[in-house]
Amino acid sequence: MSDRLVFFDTTLRDGEQVPGCQLNTVEKIQVARQLEQLGVDVIEAGFPASSPGDFNSVVEISKAVTWPVICALTRAVESDIDSAAEALKHARYKRIHTGIGTSDEHIRYKFNSTREEILERAVAAVKYAVKQKVDDVEFYAEDAGRTDNEYLARVVEAVIRAGATVINIPDTTGYCLPDEYGAKIRYLMENIDELSSGKAILSTHCHNDLGMATANTMSGILNGARQVEVAINGVGERAGNTALEEIAMILKCHRQTIPLDFNIKTERIAAASRLVSSLMNMPIQPNKAIVGRNAFAHSSGIHQDGVLKNTQTYEIMNPKDIGLNENNIVMTARSGRAALKYRLSLLGVEADGDVLDRIYESFLKLADKKKQLTDDDILMLAGSDIAATKHIKLDSLQVTTGKGVTPIAAIRLNVANEIFEAASTGNGPLDASIKALKQIIRRDMILREMTIQTLSKGSDDVGKVHMQVENEGQLYYGFGSDTDIITAGVEAYIDCINKFKN
Ligand code: KIV
Ligand code: ZN
Repeated sequence: MSDRLVFFDTTLRDGEQVPGCQLNTVEKIQVARQLEQLGVDVIEAGFPASSPGDFNSVVEISKAVTWPVICALTRAVESDIDSAAEALKHARYKRIHTGIGTSDEHIRYKFNSTREEILERAVAAVKYAVKQKVDDVEFYAEDAGRTDNEYLARVVEAVIRAGATVINIPDTTGYCLPDEYGAKIRYLMENIDELSSGKAILSTHCHNDLGMATANTMSGILNGARQVEVAINGVGERAGNTALEEIAMILKCHRQTIPLDFNIKTERIAAASRLVSSLMNMPIQPNKAIVGRNAFAHSSGIHQDGVLKNTQTYEIMNPKDIGLNENNIVMTARSGRAALKYRLSLLGVEADGDVLDRIYESFLKLADKKKQLTDDDILMLAGSDIAATKHIKLDSLQVTTGKGVTPIAAIRLNVANEIFEAASTGNGPLDASIKALKQIIRRDMILREMTIQTLSKGSDDVGKVHMQVENEGQLYYGFGSDTDIITAGVEAYIDCINKFKN
């Protein structure tokens, strides 16, 4: 059996289909370039038949990256496969990922069909995909986690004979126990000659509904799977997918007992994680394994004492292994454009000319307020530059607030290059600001959810605000950041309004 593990990243497909995580094509290219630098083998770039936007993203990502295989998802439908092949035209290495639901629940309720008919459709889809002359064809047996093993083996054997060389066994609902998922992989490995001979490989694709995605993926690897489908920060449908950084670091920490080769450059994990979190408006929980703010922070006295004596007392990995080191935080007002450009490129943002000039100008302004700028600050500035081209912009905001004072806000907005002003009181400074804003933008809108986070530490820190605003029954997700938390809140609200469809 091969001792090489293939990393297949689905941040831009399974991750990107989550409400609020949608990226535009420019942002997807930034993420794809970051994945390439991280050493991902396969990038699942989208589902071209699902929308013209997705189609276009697969085309542009195919042009933007060089060596990873670019993969496009399809249903077992000829027109989907045609559009995937067309979207992949410019990719250097191309893969079509086609498939169909194989559990009795999917066969009965989703397709109103039979096991025999589904098997035929699976084989026909793979044969059709093979004819498109891509480099390889991957087949997914949707809801394989709940599919009867004997029937699953018949499907897997048939699609390999039809030409698929990678077979994805998704635990679509996140239901399997690690032993059960591992036994499923083992059963397939032991009963299908093409798998034991290495003619085709099995892939894991585990969802985290019961918090077992990483455990199930590891169980799949230990039982013979040689590709893992993962996403940065574990983003993905519902509770998400297996987190790339967790599998990579488990394999690094346990390389003596699980001696598999893989291509991930783990020291690029922190940058990839920050970029995805910031572009997808998806804050990382502080105690998230590997990439959470507290993942390497020892707070109890006993632990701190041990770590000061020798880091091996409580640290199983070095923060530098994931790219966290002191150099990350020494950008100051004295740093030049070239240093900023270099730092941005490490973070996956390519900026030149006017764009770099604008980011540098805001960098200097922030550096005046805050002595040292972190990677998060820099990503935030790059994100605000994209926001600067929006229809509605916050021109100025003045707030009076405090104990025993009625909060009052005066706001000035630039709407399509026309200036509007309004003032209001409220039960707090943000309430007053939003009421003033609503006097100018008279739309049906309700603030549904808001989270406020600081980026690192210190009272001079930048605050990040994530918001959900409802307009005509639809939820819109917005983000704002500033050293003034009220300004960040208003920016997040305006970000939502700029996304309204009507
Ligand atoms: O979870 C799943 O089954 C999937 C397939 C479409 C691969 O995402
Ligand atoms: Zn999935």
